[in-house]
Amino acid sequence: MKKISTSILEMPSSKIREMFNLAAKMHNVINFGLGEPAYTAAEHITSAAIEAIETGKTHYTLNSGILPLREILSEKMKIKKNVEYDPESEIMITSGGVEALFLSLRVILDPGDEVILGAPYFSNYIGQIEMCGAVPVIVDLLEKDQFQYDVDNLRKAVTSKTKIILINSPSNPTGSVTPEKVLREIANLCIEKDLYLITDEVYQDFIYGSIPYFSVASVQDMKERTIIIDSFSKTYAMTGWRCGFILGPNHIVKQAIKIQENVVSCVNTPTQYAAISALEGEESTLKEMIAQYAINRELVVQEIDSIPLLSCIIPQGAFYAFINISKTEMSSENFAIQLLKETGVVLVPGSGFGEAGEGFVRMSYVSDPEITKEGLKRIRHFMIHHFTSNAIK
Ligand SMILES: Cc1ncc(COP(=O)(O)O)c(C=O)c1O
Repeated sequence: MKKISTSILEMPSSKIREMFNLAAKMHNVINFGLGEPAYTAAEHITSAAIEAIETGKTHYTLNSGILPLREILSEKMKIKKNVEYDPESEIMITSGGVEALFLSLRVILDPGDEVILGAPYFSNYIGQIEMCGAVPVIVDLLEKDQFQYDVDNLRKAVTSKTKIILINSPSNPTGSVTPEKVLREIANLCIEKDLYLITDEVYQDFIYGSIPYFSVASVQDMKERTIIIDSFSKTYAMTGWRCGFILGPNHIVKQAIKIQENVVSCVNTPTQYAAISALEGEESTLKEMIAQYAINRELVVQEIDSIPLLSCIIPQGAFYAFINISKTEMSSENFAIQLLKETGVVLVPGSGFGEAGEGFVRMSYVSDPEITKEGLKRIRHFMIHHFTSNAIK
């Protein structure tokens, strides 16, 4: 038989999945590996989907998604992102944020083009850029800088092949939030070098610290070169519903719609009606999630910092703590696997987020506070068991 695609064969599978596969065979597991809220979608959202099914709203929709959803998105995003997008030509509905990302990359990139992104990164970025035949150019983000972008380093990475800078704030996996000053500098760089900016804002609603959200698309002359990726997954606890969206200039959205037609035709129709209801309804689930995650965040940072050999900078957003394990001198993968086998606690090895993630593990703090406390207790016991007082410097 002929060999299947080399680029796909060489594409690494996600470390997160590997940990889940291992955990699935175990009992009494506390899973801090999740990249999603522990909540489920609010009742009004579910009801809207059921009503859509019962009333026959089950046919194909426009490739760009149903107009009422794009209209309400335009209205709400004007407030949330401080930029106005035309529902007819500058918004499209996608199958989650991941499809929004892929379509945006695919529209812009030709084989050999370069995309600059910070590491540690959401690992799908790499797979997606490579599926476009393009080249990810990695700029390391350092813990000592709170994992913030250093614009001089971004600038140094620009070549004649660079087409896109891809940023993610709040960040998965580091929890960092990019301040307005840095976003303005990145915007200036994009304008000066004539680059597109893709800004992944799927965690916009999960900000706890003192750095507020700032809309980089609202900077003068940026709307035409900025593509915002966002999603219902995290904000409305709708990960499995698969609904995201692109906000961007018409020349990008128009082409992305063409790819959509060829790939999935449209996002499933009842989900699109549910998404309208999510935007129209009370955001009580979101408020509850944020309040709970803010409590967990304090708990995790305080507890981790009190465990010998572990430390953690305070995450400003998303729902991840990026725990420094480098003093254990174990690889992040060995640490995570051994911790799981001995204590049933799932953390994700930092190496799954690029080489810059080595020496760290990602902990998702979306669980109930009691479960969070129990998991942290197990991590403490693991550390004490392996690193006796003599070993602890
Ligand atoms: C940084 C980041 N971007 C995008 C996504 C995509 O989420 P979805 O496709 O569920 O909207 C995720 C999911 O974990 C993420 O962490």
